[in-house]
Amino acid sequence: MAATLTYAPLDGCAFGRVVTGFDPAHQTPETMSELQDALYKHDILVFPHTKLTPAQQAAMTRSFDPTAQSYGHGNNKTGKETKSILHPDLKTIPHQPEVQLIGHGQVPGAYEGLDQPKLKHPHHATFHATKVSDEDEAKGTTRFYRWHIDAALYKLSPPKVTTLYAVKVPKGPAQTLRYDDGSGDEIKVAPGATAFVSGTSMFEQLPPALKSLAVRTKVKYAPHPYVWMSSARARPTGLGLETEGRELPLDQLPPWVEEEIKTLPMLWKNPVTGALALQVHPCGAMELHIAQQEGAELFPEGATITDLGEVRDWLEKLQRPGIAPANVYAVDWSEGDLVLFHNRGLLHSVTGAFGDNDLRMFHQCNLAASSDPVGPDAEDVAKYA
Ligand SMILES: [Fe+2]
Repeated sequence: MAATLTYAPLDGCAFGRVVTGFDPAHQTPETMSELQDALYKHDILVFPHTKLTPAQQAAMTRSFDPTAQSYGHGNNKTGKETKSILHPDLKTIPHQPEVQLIGHGQVPGAYEGLDQPKLKHPHHATFHATKVSDEDEAKGTTRFYRWHIDAALYKLSPPKVTTLYAVKVPKGPAQTLRYDDGSGDEIKVAPGATAFVSGTSMFEQLPPALKSLAVRTKVKYAPHPYVWMSSARARPTGLGLETEGRELPLDQLPPWVEEEIKTLPMLWKNPVTGALALQVHPCGAMELHIAQQEGAELFPEGATITDLGEVRDWLEKLQRPGIAPANVYAVDWSEGDLVLFHNRGLLHSVTGAFGDNDLRMFHQCNLAASSDPVGPDAEDVAKYA
């Protein structure tokens, strides 16, 4: 008999659910099918006080996409692709290469087959064009590091789900997260909180003219985007890059072919609810391809926008309202928390900063999907364009 799962609203979050009654050691097809449905309906599922092995985590993740094979960015990130900005953040667990160890600090001794892994929590100063002053940082000021979808955005398809399991969580006083974009916006977050916003809300709160633009637009990503952007610097909100001409020229990237470049709809259709989520990784976006629509307020003739500054200005207009303080859910992690999030329906960001003596350890897993996300259908276009 399938386990009885219960779902409760997630404190401080308009979309997620807390799930109880799930035992990862007993993953039945019925339970996993129920959880898939719940994930697509609620976008985040939190399972407190969970015991989870890397093998169970990989199995759980794979149940969302049984023919998916490799880690979302390709397997074995440890020691490879040194130019990619993702390189320092991930350590592959050797006996379960779909699962990555992430976090901060020096792990004493061997851990899951890794020899004294040293982890580094991403810090905004390494990525943003400007930084919080040392004085403010000492007082507990932080920023969003980088709003993103977990996705290679070249060759591989964006994972459907990401699972994050908290093994070690240093606790401390709440931090003040500043947007620093002139808005005065700020929120309180627990140290190292993972911030989420709903792509569905991001779309639904737009005015009609921007909804029309979004439903008609495809986003072309750079080849090897994380190498392409490796010298570029982010906006203070972590929502996309400043335009300073720092991207690597395309002929200086690792070998690439046009057919493997990702051009994805700006809106991704939820497979269960049919809702449209505005899902763009703003840092990797290189061009916008807009279909024509007679009578539309914006680009009635259609357009291909290749100027990076212009691409980013449009993305800012479309995405910034979605990360306003009221829309952000920041997970205050406890050890044993397992979080499943709908990677095709949310954007997320690391926050916070840790000291040299803090130790934070998480297991993260996602799998490059067996197919690309589906965009708006004819009915959606008729409704919004
Ligand atoms: Fe991520």
